[in-house]
Amino acid sequence: MEHILEQYKSVTKNNVETWFKVGMTTDFPENSGACIKYKTKQIAVYNFKRANTWYAAQNLCPHKMEMVLSLGMIGDKEGIPKVACPLHKKNFSLEDGTNLAGGDLKIATYPVKIENGNVYIGFSD
Ligand code: FES
Repeated sequence: MEHILEQYKSVTKNNVETWFKVGMTTDFPENSGACIKYKTKQIAVYNFKRANTWYAAQNLCPHKMEMVLSLGMIGDKEGIPKVACPLHKKNFSLEDGTNLAGGDLKIATYPVKIENGNVYIGFSD
């Protein structure tokens, strides 16, 4: 199971090799998540309309290795945008993937850009 997790590494705008088009902005529900696939990865994409921002993260919750984070509720905790896993409610920062309750479970996050109504996610592979 661990090898599934290993393919998810956070990407920053500075180390993007590929901007992968995942659809149009109108394809994504507002203030919730959707799942897309890039190579062997499942990526959760969040149209955080309330904050007028987009986020992307691994869909895999590292707690029980379930592909569920795109189904999680998004919100913020003391100003940090976050997703709550729908299964056991662990909260992860959508900015840097840290577990907001502490601990070493962490998720990978990816940059998102919007151009001409299209949504792109940045990958380093
Ligand atoms: S599987 Fe996500 S918090 Fe348990």
